[in-house]
Amino acid sequence: MKETKTVKAYVYKGFERFWHWMQSFLILFLALTGFEIHSSYSLMGFETAVDLHNKAAWAFIVLIVFAIFWHFTTGEWKQYLPTTQNLKAQAEFYIFGIFRNAPHPTKKTVISKLNPLQRLVYLGLKILIIPVMVVSGLFYMFYRYPQAGTIQSANIEKLETVALLHTLGAFLLIAFVIVHLYLITTGHTITSNLKAMITGWEELEADTDAEKENKKNEKEENNESK
Ligand code: HEM
Repeated sequence: MKETKTVKAYVYKGFERFWHWMQSFLILFLALTGFEIHSSYSLMGFETAVDLHNKAAWAFIVLIVFAIFWHFTTGEWKQYLPTTQNLKAQAEFYIFGIFRNAPHPTKKTVISKLNPLQRLVYLGLKILIIPVMVVSGLFYMFYRYPQAGTIQSANIEKLETVALLHTLGAFLLIAFVIVHLYLITTGHTITSNLKAMITGWEELEADTDAEKENKKNEKEENNESK
């Protein structure tokens, strides 16, 4: 097999790693307490589960506010802009190529660290699933059950929709976590992605001489045209 040259690069910054691990912990904890509320099992008792679920939910909201601020002030939001370039190749890689030791179809760099499938899925989480969880969760939290006999019984139907959406989102998040855990192992080596998210540093494929030459030429052309 062809040897590829690698260089060590600082890919995930301090806040980004803190946000990632805090978010994983909170989502797992919200799932654990949420499914107790859902009556899937009995671990800590319903009331404790509700209390802890509410506290973790507020922590999650605070984290989201900081993360939004970070993404916009650092320009890192651009990492999540969707692209169709290499999308099919990336999907084919996960379905077939990966089992045949094929090379990764997209090259990871510091300014483009997500492959096209990751971009789509993470963007979906950020602008759809997580907002649905927060909004439905807040509706749930501030909803007051109408007293028996009042005319507000129509509200009950609304809470049903909220509960359905919130539970559906919870299942989708768990499905995401399972797939995510598997994909963590599909980096350069089985632990390279995990190590990168812990230390921030990762071995990335180095530019080939031809690519370096192209970049140099582009720079020179730009300078000449100024
Ligand atoms: C900021 C985000 C969130 C808020 C504000 C929130 C809030 C709530 C509230 C108030 C309840 C109802 C508790 C009660 O019945 O008294 C609830 C239920 C639940 N939550 Fe969350 N939650 C959030 C995120 C999550 C996440 C990330 C998950 C899972 C990954 C989750 C899973 C669940 C589940 C499964 C239930 C039970 C639903 C049912 O059976 O009706 N929640 N949540």
